[in-house]
Amino acid sequence: MTTTRLFVAASTALALAGAAAFSSVDARAAQAKAASEGVYTKAQAERGLTLYDTSCASCHELSKFKGTEFANTWTDKPLTDLHVAVVSMPMDAPGSMKPQEYADILAYFLSINGYPAGPAELEGTDAAIKAIKLDVKK
Ligand code: HEC
Repeated sequence: MTTTRLFVAASTALALAGAAAFSSVDARAAQAKAASEGVYTKAQAERGLTLYDTSCASCHELSKFKGTEFANTWTDKPLTDLHVAVVSMPMDAPGSMKPQEYADILAYFLSINGYPAGPAELEGTDAAIKAIKLDVKK
């Protein structure tokens, strides 16, 4: 009888420990979604291209936001770092664009750096962008 009770107590403890381990894995996953999982849509990146041409291209060579130069500055970091830089632009009118327009430009930058499009748009909120990491592509 005593043995049975002990066994029940021990397996309950194990089950609880297991549940706790699972939920912390879930929390980590919610915090950092990799950009290579597809965090923007194709239509959004196309809007971003138009916005870039209208509002950014007068001062920046696109090569600054592509390939090695992009990777050296932004890869392996939270997408927030790039977002902070982008919302401080255009240099002559910082923060003048809509949050969703800045997200569209981020989507465009992701698309020209080989990050795949996915089923849902990248939202322009700080919370949504904070949850994404610009992972190193394999
Ligand atoms: C009036 C000129 C001007 C316009 C327009 C402009 N920028 Fe900039 N931008 C600059 C200057 C100057 C810097 C600082 C020097 C540099 O990094 O080139 C800068 C820096 C940046 C940086 C940081 C680069 C780094 O490596 O740290 C990003 C990202 C950026 N701009 C994105 C944009 C985007 C996106 C737009 C359009 C929404 C834009 N810029 C429009 C002039 C401009």
